This record gives sequence, C-alpha cells and structure tokens, in this order.
Amino acid sequence: MGKLNNPFVIGNYAGKHYFCDRVYESKELIDNILNGRNAVLVSHRRIGKTGLICHCFEQPEIRKKYNVFFVDILATMSLQEFVLALGKEIIKRLKPKSSRFFDSLKNVFTSLRGGFKIDTQTGDPVFEISLGDIDSPETTLDEIFRYLSTSEKPCVVAIDEFQQIGYYPEKNVEALLRTKIQHCPNCKFIFAGSEKDMLINMFNSPDKPFYQSATFMQIGKIELDKYKEFVVGLFEENKKKIAESFIETAYNSVDGVTLYIQFIMNELYQIIPQNGEVTQVLYDKSLDILLNKQSFVYTNTLSELTVRQKEVLFALAKEDENFEVTSAGFMKKYNLVSTSSIQASLKGLTAKKIISVEDGRYVVSDRLFRLWMRKL
Ligand SMILES: Nc1ncnc2c1ncn2[C@@H]1O[C@H](COP(=O)(O)OP(=O)(O)O)[C@@H](O)[C@H]1O
Ligand SMILES: [Mg+2]
Repeated sequence: MGKLNNPFVIGNYAGKHYFCDRVYESKELIDNILNGRNAVLVSHRRIGKTGLICHCFEQPEIRKKYNVFFVDILATMSLQEFVLALGKEIIKRLKPKSSRFFDSLKNVFTSLRGGFKIDTQTGDPVFEISLGDIDSPETTLDEIFRYLSTSEKPCVVAIDEFQQIGYYPEKNVEALLRTKIQHCPNCKFIFAGSEKDMLINMFNSPDKPFYQSATFMQIGKIELDKYKEFVVGLFEENKKKIAESFIETAYNSVDGVTLYIQFIMNELYQIIPQNGEVTQVLYDKSLDILLNKQSFVYTNTLSELTVRQKEVLFALAKEDENFEVTSAGFMKKYNLVSTSSIQASLKGLTAKKIISVEDGRYVVSDRLFRLWMRKL
C-alpha cells in the first residue's frame, strides 16, 4: 500500500503501519481461529472491532490459510436481506475470473442463477443480484453453507453487527444459523457487535441456540501510552512534532474512543506544516475547524429533538463522568423538573442512538458532538 497523505485514517483499514497496537487482541482472535473456535467480539461503538477484524484478516497466518469473508449486517432487516448480503460477499470475494469457475459457481448457487450474467460490452462474467432474486432465502443459505463446507481452503466468515439478527421478523433465524454453522466444521465464524446485552443473551443463555458456541472477547479502548507512541511516530516520520500532553488531552476529551481521537489527530496533522510543531493555539484552532465542519449536522440533530430532550442532552454533555442523571443535585443544577420526564427523554435519545449506556452510565455517543455542545 502506498504512503498516505494523512496517516490518521478514518473509516477504513489502510494496513498495519496506520493501525495502532491491538497486538494482544489480534493474537487472541487469530489463536481462536487457528484453534477452531468461533469468536464473539464486543465493544462499545467506534472502538475498533471492525478494524481489528480487517487487521487480522491481513495477517499472513490467516490470509494464506483461509478464504476470508466479511459482511456487515447492520442495515439488514430480514433473513432475506441477510442471505443477500452474505451471498454477495462470498461471490464478490471469489471473483470468478475464468468462465469455468464462473460456471461452477453458477452450479453451486442454483437459486441465484439469474444473477450470473455476461457483460455485453466486455464479455466478462459478472454477478449481480438484488433482493427480488432471493425467492427462497433458506435454499440460498443452504447453498452458501454447502459451498463453504466444500471449499478447498478453510474459511473464516466475520459477521459484523451480528445482534441485528435479533431484530428480524422471522423467529427461527438463530436456530437456523446455528444448525448450519454446526454442520460446517471447515468454517470459523467471528460475530461482532456493539450491543453487548443482546450478544450476551444470544451466546450465554442456556436456552438459546448459540449458547456457548463461541469464545467471548471484549475489546477495550486503545491504551493511552500505546496511542501516544503511535501518534508521535507518525508525526515524526513526516517531520512534524507533537508533545504527548496534546495527545493525552485529545484522548481524554473523547474518552479514548478510537474513531473520535483519529478524527482529532487527522485534523491536527493537516494543520501542522512540515517541520512545524503543535502549539496550544494550533490545537484549539484545529479542534474548532473540526467541530465547525460538523456544525450543520449537529444543529440539524438538535432541531429534531423536543425541548426536554435537548435539556437532558445538554446536561449530560456538560457533565463529566459518573454523574447520576436522575439525582436531585443534577436535576437542580440543570433545572430539570421530574425524574419521569428525564427518564422519558433518556429513552427517546437512546432510541435515536444519540446517547447510549456505556459501563453503566449514559453518555453522548458521538464524542465530537459532546465537545461541540460543551463549546456552545
Ligand atoms: N487500532 C487502530 N488504529 C487506528 N485507527 C483505528 C484502529 N482501530 C480502529 N480505528 C479507526 O477507528 C474507527 C472506528 O473503528 P471501527 O473498527 O469501525 O469500530 P467499531 O467496529 O468498533 O465500531 C475507524 O475509523 C477505524 O479506521
Ligand atoms: Mg464496526
């Protein structure tokens, strides 16, 4: 991979040089796979589960031995959509190059025959399916698993935001998938998700199909010291200087949540010229630039809230850790009227995913939004 203009990457995996630490977690995840165990990865949002999976998939011990597949099912609403996402990923990764291989895939995925086409311009085989092509999701799912279990190399399938299957209208999805997975010893699964309670319930309740079928891995924040080393290294490599105290300030301001700290470092890196150094003035300026870019979206989010919800949100944004939202002190300080109205607002804000419960307390999920509100 070529050298990036800005080494603080947001949103995708750009190789190990741009990936901070996770040495221990990678080893644990890879060991699980190599030793034939499925794994469940849980963490709060934006901490780095998806990044960790991509990172492990790139390591030689996985890349060389396994066919790897990655499917994010956050946007799926039914078994049919799940099957579509999984089927697309598998066929995409296999990238039928020769027409013979293309024909063999066509024979395996008979229920998807309509999706195998020939590009009339180039004559190349292409695969295109849409939801309407999946008449019988269970049949297609059978085919997918039959394919996985007979593939030459063993497979690893990562299903991101796996808790989503709990929201499908079909009631038998867990049992169906569990049976298929059980009969596919050639294939290991990584289930990742942010909704810890749902995942614990799925994998740790004796009456659930997935009970004890996978090893739990909790992914925590990247340690501050590791992150400092990473940032200083990437700045220095490009003849820029940053004192560790700025990294610490940034890290703490977003509770060490990986995505947001990457955002701050990305902006800061951009503003510092070569041979330049981060100063307080430049730090403040870059944070302002960053938050201003989000202003439009945040203003819009606020405009869709009720007055009560806004009050509670601002109160929550301005408080530091461990403050009991429904305590008398909190209510008095922020002129909030009743416990029940606070509860209703918290519920509404949670449903909109603006706030979430992390480690037993409510927080504003988007830590940049929280910083933005603190500056108003
Ligand atoms: N170890 C890491 N080093 C640097 N950036 C990372 C690392 N892990 C994740 N990121 C970045 O942080 C953001 C959030 O990570 P992601 O893996 O999407 O979180 P999750 O899947 O837990 O919601 C992404 O932009 C990703 O590129
Ligand atoms: Mg993710």
